[in-house]
Amino acid sequence: MTILGIETSCDETSAAIVKAQNNDKNVTLCSNVVATSLSLHAKTGGIIPEVAAREQVKFIIPVIKEALNGIKNPEQDIDAIAVTIGPGLIGSLLVGVETARTFSYVWKKTLIPVNHLFGHIYANFIEERAELGTKDIEFPAVSLIVSGGHTDLVLMKNHRSIKWLGGTRDDAAGEAFDKTGRLLGLQYPAGPEIEKLAGRVKRDNYRFPRPVIDSGDFDFSFSGLKTAVLREVQKMKNRDEQTISEICFSLQEAVIDVLVKKTLDAANKYKVKSILLGGGVAANSALRDSFELKLSILGSKTKLFVPDKKLCTDNAAMIAAAGFFNREETDWRNISANPELYFD
Ligand code: KG4
Ligand code: ZN
Repeated sequence: MTILGIETSCDETSAAIVKAQNNDKNVTLCSNVVATSLSLHAKTGGIIPEVAAREQVKFIIPVIKEALNGIKNPEQDIDAIAVTIGPGLIGSLLVGVETARTFSYVWKKTLIPVNHLFGHIYANFIEERAELGTKDIEFPAVSLIVSGGHTDLVLMKNHRSIKWLGGTRDDAAGEAFDKTGRLLGLQYPAGPEIEKLAGRVKRDNYRFPRPVIDSGDFDFSFSGLKTAVLREVQKMKNRDEQTISEICFSLQEAVIDVLVKKTLDAANKYKVKSILLGGGVAANSALRDSFELKLSILGSKTKLFVPDKKLCTDNAAMIAAAGFFNREETDWRNISANPELYFD
């Protein structure tokens, strides 16, 4: 089965081709093209929905064309189209959804609506190159989705049973990075830069709070961190690189401590065999390392899976993969964008 994925939920315009057979454990990546309007948003320090939507309109057809490059006769060779229907920005979502509906109608192809959050989970089920070997993800699994807009923990008993365990009560983990970045004068989105600066520091000098770390549930809260950082920034006499790097390190440590603790608590409670990370913040190497370290200290047999960095941030390959494993084949007339879509 060959699936064309389309993702336009925010500021990335992406199209991808994945292939898989019915009993495959993973999908194989054939192409994954991503265009982004990020540089326009970096200037304004955040995403302006109207600007993002206009850029989506500009990019969508060239991006799909490039993704189809290796396919001789798309009309014949593509079996289905998977498209993100939400959550996201309505203007951006509409571009992908309406384009997918049009292709589905003209090519007479099955359309599969995909929840963007499921996409981040399914980035783990993509095999990039045969020589890297087959990833053997075993269920049950817990998945931590950490992005600019979301922080969620879900339990997967199998592909058809995905249960939400908890999520953030306010800011998402990525938002904590981005808002701190703004306070420190770093470019949006600040996650990668904060990781880089934090890499120069070894000690957690500021010990920012670890919000709701012992709440006993699987909820998160990151808005207080921004306030704690603000207090330190107001006290700062000079903004030298060393001080900024130390704040970045302490922020990163606080976020990681909470994410790792809650995820491992969930893994322990539900006796899972696999932990799957996904979303832009999963691209953070210190987060990955912290998971690896804690699992090895605990002598745990639970396996950690993290997508390749470029598959952590928004892309259409993960949407095509989610579409393959959760095929809700739907008539093009019955698909519409839903910016508020969440877990059931
Ligand atoms: O998944 P994503 O591309 O878009 C959303 O669906 O939100 O995630 C973007 C978020 C941003 O908040 C960005 O700062 C964060 O992921 N991010 C990182 C890193 N790379 C991206 N956060 C921490 N460390 C990173 N290396
Ligand atoms: Zn995302």
